[in-house]
Amino acid sequence: MEEHSCGIGLRFEHIDRILKEQPNIPWLEVLSDNYLNPDSVQQDYLLSIAELYPLSLHGVGMSIGSVDPFNEDYFSLLKALIDRVNPQRVSDHLCWTAVHGRVTHDLIPLPYTDETIRYVAGRIREAQERLEREIVIENVSSYLQYKQSVMTEWEFFTAVVEEADCGLLLDVNNIYVSAMNHNFDPLDYLHAIPTRRVRQIHLAGYEDRGTHLLDTHGNHVTEPVWDLYAQAVKQLGNIPTLIEWDNDVPELEILLAEADKAGSIQLEHAA
Ligand SMILES: [Fe+2]
Repeated sequence: MEEHSCGIGLRFEHIDRILKEQPNIPWLEVLSDNYLNPDSVQQDYLLSIAELYPLSLHGVGMSIGSVDPFNEDYFSLLKALIDRVNPQRVSDHLCWTAVHGRVTHDLIPLPYTDETIRYVAGRIREAQERLEREIVIENVSSYLQYKQSVMTEWEFFTAVVEEADCGLLLDVNNIYVSAMNHNFDPLDYLHAIPTRRVRQIHLAGYEDRGTHLLDTHGNHVTEPVWDLYAQAVKQLGNIPTLIEWDNDVPELEILLAEADKAGSIQLEHAA
């Protein structure tokens, strides 16, 4: 039987069971920022997991779009973790999270201008040099837009990854959330994506807050996002896909069922 390539995010509450029962999961994504300390029990667990499953390291701490210098400690810890677990992919977001040394813990979008493209692409190149490997950059969901922007988000995203010569992580839920919040057609976004750069897809659940959709990662993937995912698979082929579920984390079975649902869409629609 053909196998799909849809994984789940590794969450602390599931580590024991995964180590004991070793369920059939094609790969796991790990929030790298939680495992950086080489003397921590968390990293010990991760090394055990890495012996059983292919991993993708996903971070929020690079602050690629910030004007602050890169955090030296962060990069050296991340590089050491990469050397230990040998991940298939290392990703972070097209956003900024810190300025003047203050961390916001939010993924804040950037103004879509030529100047920002040059700046951020340079930062991604520098990050790739520091880590001595390709990194993969993800689109964020957004709730604000800048007056200074002179192009669409997809024009900006595409230009950045081309100029940086990096991989692209397409978060299909984030496209849908931003499309509803800013009133654009998510298919326009999808059709503009450079296929050869796409290394991974994210799926997650959002919450409808009435005035806007909020990307909560705390629920099932919604029907319109499944539909958009089917379109993405038709266009991009069989891309490793991940279910992100970070809040109100359910039983492992529910996450695995969600990954299997993505997997059946993948097998049905991939060219
Ligand atoms: Fe994501």
